[in-house]
Amino acid sequence: MAHRIGYIVGSLSTDSINRVLSQALIGLAPPSIEMSEISIRALPLYNRDDELDPVDAVTVFKEAIEQAEGLLIISPEYNRSIPGPLKNAIDWGSRPWGHNSFARKPTGIIGASTGAIGTAVMQSSMRSVLSFLNAPQLNAPEAYIRFDPEHYGADGRVTDAGTSQFLTHYMGEYAAFVERVLSLTAPGHVGDRD
Ligand code: FNR
Repeated sequence: MAHRIGYIVGSLSTDSINRVLSQALIGLAPPSIEMSEISIRALPLYNRDDELDPVDAVTVFKEAIEQAEGLLIISPEYNRSIPGPLKNAIDWGSRPWGHNSFARKPTGIIGASTGAIGTAVMQSSMRSVLSFLNAPQLNAPEAYIRFDPEHYGADGRVTDAGTSQFLTHYMGEYAAFVERVLSLTAPGHVGDRD
């Protein structure tokens, strides 16, 4: 059966290039994974006062992360860092203390920007956040996408051969990484000590 992957789009914009990228990645993913969105749109601003009795949107978000077998974060870079709405979502998912939904969740990070840096600085910040949250991450290949609208159709279909090849390779490596982590963290595996 295909592994259930939750993907998070780090932009709330209706014409988000990262949403286009997410559609492209779904189209190019191998059959061993099944992608469904974990939306961050309905989350309120994080407030520690509400941690123990959060609104439903927070509970739904945390459950979706926990039920996914892997996560793929597809995000823009804002001011050389993680967009506020996405960091807000991660903060909710990480709490309350002792109930970090990201722990041991195999995670990939990819992003598109209009600039040449292709979200590299956002991804670097995100790696440090996810490391703290004990989420194993796909180290390579890295994917810093400078978005060229001419390479994508309206439905996110990739029309450029080189882009298609690169993204297909990325998704294949991501799926293999998820498989590897899941096999190492399966209950009863000799390396699983806690
Ligand atoms: C940007 N953009 C941007 N691009 C980049 O490569 N590095 C950056 O640090 C920033 N900073 C930044 C801050 C803010 C507040 C905005 C709105 C934009 C440009 C960004 O790449 C572009 O707007 C993308 O289209 C954003 O992705 P989505 O929302 O279209 O998916």
